[in-house]
Amino acid sequence: EKGGYDYFMLKEIAEQPKAVADTLLGRIDGSGRLTLDEVRIEQSALREIDKIVIVACGTAFHAGMIAKYAIEHWTRVPCEVELASEFRYRDPILDQRSLVVAISQSGETMDTLMALRHAREQGSKVLAICNTNGSTIPRESDAVLYTHAGPEVAVASTKAFLTQLVACYLVALYLGQVRGTKWGDEIYTVIRELSDISKQVDQVLETMEPVRELARSLKDKDTVLFLGRHVGYPVALEGALKLKELAYMHAEGFAAGELKHGPIALIEEDLPVVVVVPSPRGRSVLHDKIVSNIQEIRARGARTIVIAEEGDEAVVPYADHLIRIPATPTLLQPLVATVPLQVFACELATARGNEVDQPRNLAKSVTVE
Ligand code: F6R
Repeated sequence: EKGGYDYFMLKEIAEQPKAVADTLLGRIDGSGRLTLDEVRIEQSALREIDKIVIVACGTAFHAGMIAKYAIEHWTRVPCEVELASEFRYRDPILDQRSLVVAISQSGETMDTLMALRHAREQGSKVLAICNTNGSTIPRESDAVLYTHAGPEVAVASTKAFLTQLVACYLVALYLGQVRGTKWGDEIYTVIRELSDISKQVDQVLETMEPVRELARSLKDKDTVLFLGRHVGYPVALEGALKLKELAYMHAEGFAAGELKHGPIALIEEDLPVVVVVPSPRGRSVLHDKIVSNIQEIRARGARTIVIAEEGDEAVVPYADHLIRIPATPTLLQPLVATVPLQVFACELATARGNEVDQPRNLAKSVTVE
């Protein structure tokens, strides 16, 4: 049932091109309009929304962090993202005009469930983004968008994450469509770009041998740091989370702009630092700033592992290891940039002799608070 792979995680990583395509399936009509029929919240109610709050845990929370960039950019509705476990006990400000989006692969995570129950008690509408049909979270929500990633068996989330992102982009576009902040052609353009992601993920998967080799060479390290900016920041957090849970290594993700506010003190000779570099085409200021961050940490001895778009030559002089990803629009980059980090963590875990599919102390769905 592992389809020839040693681990479910490897199988699920390999299934990602199909999974992201499946999330898009049947959600666009012939004229390129999004038809999210499952979102059974009145369009008039969606037009009234004045705030969006995303609640989730772990990897799903990282998907939510990325979604915030797309939602605010495309809909101009303020969006907060909060760990479900913090949200519930904070007395959050919610009312009928708040839309709460609960993201959960399993649909059974107790913290997320409690957060959405609390939101509904305040009169807010809840939209679930979920991978497991008929699970508790979608059953208790006003509407659900299923990710259609297929069953995810490995404890560490991979294909569910990518499909959660696609679902979040669809929700953001849909809200833009309903509210008129995003028009037909613009929506169609993003949909086309999303449709291309499947083969771009495939391309990334075909070039992973050097990443595996690099991972094996780092098996005796204690710490790996991850840096990113804009949507690359949650990608860095996700890369660090994967490494913690699978390789049992100390791993931390930082917003690259925060380096000089503390974390740069951690840099020492030969410390591996993974840097997710934004496209030099889109918001090029961000790109240039991160290139100087790479210079700064390298000057202090870091061993730089740079994930950058094909054709980005500015990073070459400062990259001890360069991992290329295909060019994508800025907001969609996490869909390709996360993949090498999954492979990296999986290979490091294997090299350290860890049980990849069943990391110690973890359960696939966390049904206690
Ligand atoms: C990490 C991981 C966990 C889950 C988290 C939420 O690889 O799998 O962090 O993402 O426990 O689970 P769901 O999405 O089922 O609510």
